[in-house]
Amino acid sequence: MMDSRDGLQGPHRTLDTDIESFFNSAPPLKDSLDIGRKLKEFIDRHSFSSGNKGPSRIVCVSSGGTTVPLEQRCVRYIDNFSSGHRGAASTEYFVKAGYAVVFLHRRGTCQPYCRSLPENSLLECFELTEESSVQVRQSHSEAVKRAIRHHHTATEKGLLLKLPFTSIFEYLQILRMVAISVKNVGSYCMFYLAAAVSDFYVPWESMAEHKIQSASGPLDMRLAQVPKMLSVLRKEWAPMAYCISFKLETDPKILLEKADMALRKYKMHVVIANELLTRKEEVVVVTSNERITVHRDSNEADADVESPLIKLLVEKHSAYIKETGTSN
Ligand code: PMT
Repeated sequence: MMDSRDGLQGPHRTLDTDIESFFNSAPPLKDSLDIGRKLKEFIDRHSFSSGNKGPSRIVCVSSGGTTVPLEQRCVRYIDNFSSGHRGAASTEYFVKAGYAVVFLHRRGTCQPYCRSLPENSLLECFELTEESSVQVRQSHSEAVKRAIRHHHTATEKGLLLKLPFTSIFEYLQILRMVAISVKNVGSYCMFYLAAAVSDFYVPWESMAEHKIQSASGPLDMRLAQVPKMLSVLRKEWAPMAYCISFKLETDPKILLEKADMALRKYKMHVVIANELLTRKEEVVVVTSNERITVHRDSNEADADVESPLIKLLVEKHSAYIKETGTSN
């Protein structure tokens, strides 16, 4: 593992040192003041301590993959697979269940309420009339109306705060801001971490400033390990929050074992195990005492596996709130 700051290497370093070093060397978040302000407003509005009668449960849904830049003035980057479908669909079901959602998502990935629209929705859903005004094409009118109606309901009630990220540096800095901001919401807050987070990165200070030249021959690069932030999220940032992480594998033989390991190691309340090829059909909800397989309802054409999944998680969250004695 690379480290230019304190000379400690690999197994001799502690996790806390790695986390501190990651944040200290990360490029500062460009719009951190704006993000902080939006977060404060959103959490104040939904926090039960504000005396507001609105929904008092808040979930942070992370969605999409993080990038690892190879140059400071980034031309090339390593990407992590995730379309953002899981996060976007889950957000819709959380809003439906009355949660206020911080949707921490990768720029350009799938957005809530847009899933039934064509990819190039602006150009494909609309057409010009003879008078040169714009109208919705008949073939898409139901899908567009539904998307607009649901999106408006969520935003008018102030139930959706969208925070975009691209790189691993942005993602982890914003996740930390969200977690620290919701600390006082206690067990009413949930983290639902569906983002595909990079495991390896190039530390900012050892990254080339300018575009790496191909004329210099084959590229030989050493990547440092991104510290897992799940433990610090549980222990320090938001210790009372209900935490759900995901485990993605391509080999079904190791999936549940890895999910169990993550549950114990990072003290998650739930780990959702999913396999790449079947992730839209079924997931397994793993807790310390059970494994529940959740299937998409195959009788319904547009059913999502996220519908029964979020229902189950909301029940588990309610039980947790009761158990921690903070139910209102
Ligand atoms: O977006 P879709 O196309 O719909 O696909 C959804 C999904 C398959 C991406 C999603 O369901 C999923 O499984 N997301 C997590 C995938 C993943 O990268 O798993 P992991 O084993 O690398 O990480 C496990 C957990 O640790 C994750 O919750 C992650 O947030 C967390 N993590 C990972 C790396 C890191 N350095 N720090 C972390 O905290």
